[in-house]
Amino acid sequence: MTGRIIGLGSYIPKKIVTNDDFAAFLDTSDEWITERTGIKERHIADHITEKPSTMAVEAAKKAIEDAGIDPKDIDLIVTACTTPDLVIPSMSCVVHEAIGASENCGCFDVNSACPGFVAAWNTVQSFIETGNAKLALCIGTECNSNFANYNDRGTCILFGDGAGAALLKADESAKPNQFIMRSSGARGGCLRCEAARQPDRWEEEDFKTATSFYMQGREVFKFAVSEVPQIIKDLSEKFSFDLNDIDMFILHQANARIIEATAKKLGIPRDRFPMNIMNYGNASSASIPMLLTSLKAEGRLKPGMKIVMASFGAGLTWDANYIIF
Ligand SMILES: CC(C)(COP(=O)(O)OP(=O)(O)OC[C@H]1O[C@@H](n2cnc3c(N)ncnc32)[C@H](O)[C@@H]1OP(=O)(O)O)[C@@H](O)C(=O)NCCC(=O)NCCS
Repeated sequence: MTGRIIGLGSYIPKKIVTNDDFAAFLDTSDEWITERTGIKERHIADHITEKPSTMAVEAAKKAIEDAGIDPKDIDLIVTACTTPDLVIPSMSCVVHEAIGASENCGCFDVNSACPGFVAAWNTVQSFIETGNAKLALCIGTECNSNFANYNDRGTCILFGDGAGAALLKADESAKPNQFIMRSSGARGGCLRCEAARQPDRWEEEDFKTATSFYMQGREVFKFAVSEVPQIIKDLSEKFSFDLNDIDMFILHQANARIIEATAKKLGIPRDRFPMNIMNYGNASSASIPMLLTSLKAEGRLKPGMKIVMASFGAGLTWDANYIIF
């Protein structure tokens, strides 16, 4: 038994922040941001009605509607979130209540920054493959704007908010979940954000900055353009498939240049690497399920398609999966 996607849904915050909006208060320009990142605009939550928990609920409800199932049959909810509005309960428990799931449903969150959705996916699949779940929600939800430093032009322009959810159903005929996950704690210093509740440090100079995203952009860029193509190549060798047979490469949407460089290094046509980064920026763990949802809505995702998902981010962590839609 392996989980097959039977429903997808997303929630995108209403407010759009364009590159020109940033140029109004930062030393930056639409031209610079577009050229270096591919991003034109991103959606930012209102933090009142739109929070990681409420966005996760809306995305989950849409995935349930898309699948046409009874939420009482869901027996596992795993949510990837690094920017939660609640420390406890988990985002998954908030979703549990809102969708009316039964008490036979397990709930927990995973924190693995941008690759969180893929980590949640592998967790869910491991439950399904060991017979411990049959119908599971796998969610990515983020309010990166909670932690962006809007004085730092090198980071704040990259991030957006949003949520995406996939409903996975155990299927005897589905191909086993095939994946590789890698990490390098030693390289983690180039992408950090400290926890805000450290009373012994509140008086420290720059503590507010330390509790916002800190990033050495160029280091992260170099890491991504080297490790992402490599892990995809290693995945194809480990599971003996030809990358030329893959219909779509669903990559974490962090920078259009990283995606283009990956396509080039693998020698795969760029049009097999769909992107939505121009409209949503980097929505961290929500980026892959948001992209899957929009591709399905556009009719571009068809049953039986061969897909490679790959993500990377803070940790440093990176991973890749081979799935059949
Ligand atoms: C952040 C990123 C877009 C910066 O692009 P870059 O080409 O590497 O640019 P650099 O950081 O080397 O900076 C080059 C110059 O542009 C400036 N700059 C940085 N941000 C700018 C902005 N928004 N507008 C205008 N200039 C900017 C820098 O200050 C620097 O100026 P200097 O040469 O006078 O010092 C790019 O490195 C990147 O996308 N990295 C990966 C980040 C990522 O994906 N993080 C999330 C992982 S999940």
